[in-house]
Parts: sequence; C-alpha cells; structure tokens
Amino acid sequence: MLATVAPPIIAVVNQKGGVGKTTTAINLAAAMAEVGHPTLLVDLDPQANSTSGLGLDPARARLNIYHLLTGEATVEQVVQPTSVSGLSLIASHIDLAGAEIELATMSEREGLLRHALAANPPGVEILLIDCPPSLGLLTLNALVAATSMLIPTQSEYFALEGLRHLMYTHQLVRSRLNPRLAIAGILMTQFDARTTLAWDVLHAVRRAHPHHLLETVIPRNVRISEAPSHGKSVIEYDPTCRGAAAYRALAKELLER
Ligand SMILES: Nc1ncnc2c1ncn2[C@@H]1O[C@H](COP(=O)(O)OP(=O)(O)OP(=O)(O)O)[C@@H](O)[C@H]1O
Ligand SMILES: [Mg+2]
Repeated sequence: MLATVAPPIIAVVNQKGGVGKTTTAINLAAAMAEVGHPTLLVDLDPQANSTSGLGLDPARARLNIYHLLTGEATVEQVVQPTSVSGLSLIASHIDLAGAEIELATMSEREGLLRHALAANPPGVEILLIDCPPSLGLLTLNALVAATSMLIPTQSEYFALEGLRHLMYTHQLVRSRLNPRLAIAGILMTQFDARTTLAWDVLHAVRRAHPHHLLETVIPRNVRISEAPSHGKSVIEYDPTCRGAAAYRALAKELLER
C-alpha cells in the first residue's frame, strides 16, 4: 500500500494585529485553489474574520473550530464548502475567545489542533490556518499542528522587533513541541511603494532575514480591502487588479518553494 503524504499546513501568524494575516489567509487560499490545489482554510481566530470575509455567517455554522478542538466533532463534520471552487473552510466563532480558557484546562492542550487534523481531510492538498493576533494557546495550537509559518508583516518601524520575537518563538516551538516547523516566509503586506519608510523597512527586513523574506510583495490596494465586505476573496472580486495578481504570485512562489 502506498503511504499517503500528509499535506502541508501553513500557519499564517503574527502577534501584531492588523498586519494582513486574514487577508493573506483568504486570498492565498483562493489563489491556491484557483490553480488546482484543493485548499482548506482553518479560521482559528475568535474574531472569525476569515469566516465572514468568505461570505459565511459565523453564527450560523452549527459546528465550528471549537467543536473540533474539544473533540466534539471530526474534521469532516466541521468542514464546509465556500463559494470558491476547491476552497473549503472550518469556521470560527466569537465564543472561541471564552473557550480558550476552557481549552487551557485540557490535557495536551497545545496539541489539540494537531490531533484533530491528524485525520487528513480527504482530497485536501494544502491547509492554511488564520491565527489570532496573540501568541496565546490558540496560536500555539496552530504552530504545533503546522509544517510552516507564513509571517505577514507591515512595512512600519516596529516590524523588525516583531519579527525577532517571532523567530524566537519559532525556535522555542521547534525545540520543545514541533521539530518539523519551518518558516514558509516573511511577507511584506500593505506595501506603499511611494513612501521611503516602506522601502527602508523592506531593505532592513531583507538584511536581517535574507533567506526568509519572500520575493512577492503585497501592495496596498483598495480592491483587497473592499473584497471582504462583499464576502469574496480579491481573486473573485476583481480578478485583474494588482492585489489579485500579487496573491497569485505569492501562491506560485510558495508552491515552487
Ligand atoms: N494589501 C492591502 N491593501 C489594502 N488594505 C489591506 C491590505 N491588506 C490588508 N488590508 C486591510 O487591513 C486591515 C487589516 O487586515 P487583516 O484583517 O487581514 O489583518 P489581520 O492581521 O488579520 O488582523 P487581526 O490581527 O485583527 O486578525 C483590513 O481592513 C484589511 O482589509
Ligand atoms: Mg485576522
């Protein structure tokens, strides 16, 4: 019997809020699906922005990520289709915020997601996890389940400090909990090429992390920010805009890596 290869699991992570984790999770997932790789997006953030950004009502999913983490439901029970062909979702729920305390009392609490995803969802080739803006128990579950971290970062003054902290977290998780955890890359997002600061930060990140900085840069693009209010990825909302092209390029770069 042929051994089945476990699909890559990419955690989209940064403890800083508003850097583009959710935007990247949704649009990268849509771009991967578009080129024929069935993708599962796991919304692990109690804000449930990936869920609503794909046009699904977080209050309506009967079973969500909470039920998966607590073992009340299986992956197959919590996965739901989206409007994007080849893209499925495990929805989140605002109640997950309170549940984090409950999860903290469970045994092997940092391995709950890994355990839940061990039964590979059938037909899925790539998993993406949208993390909340903290390094709490939920994000730790993502890092223990994942094969790599994708780190979106804004071109702002404090970016390097945040990256240093994330690299330290990466080492810590690798040495104690998940030795297979790699860095998929650092992604510059909301890049405004007209400002000197944006270029300065880009060059500084490249100097500090030459092997991790991705070639693809996501521009600041109004179509990207409009898309979620229509419940769509930018790939569906405006397939020819710069934002859609950038996320397609990101998918290509990561698939080639
Ligand atoms: N490339 C871009 N161009 C324009 N706006 C963007 C871009 N990327 C993200 N945004 C906007 O910036 C805001 C923050 O993005 P997003 O929600 O993806 O960040 P986040 O890291 O997931 O935030 P949180 O930490 O709260 O989960 C959103 O309003 C989003 O629409
Ligand atoms: Mg988010």
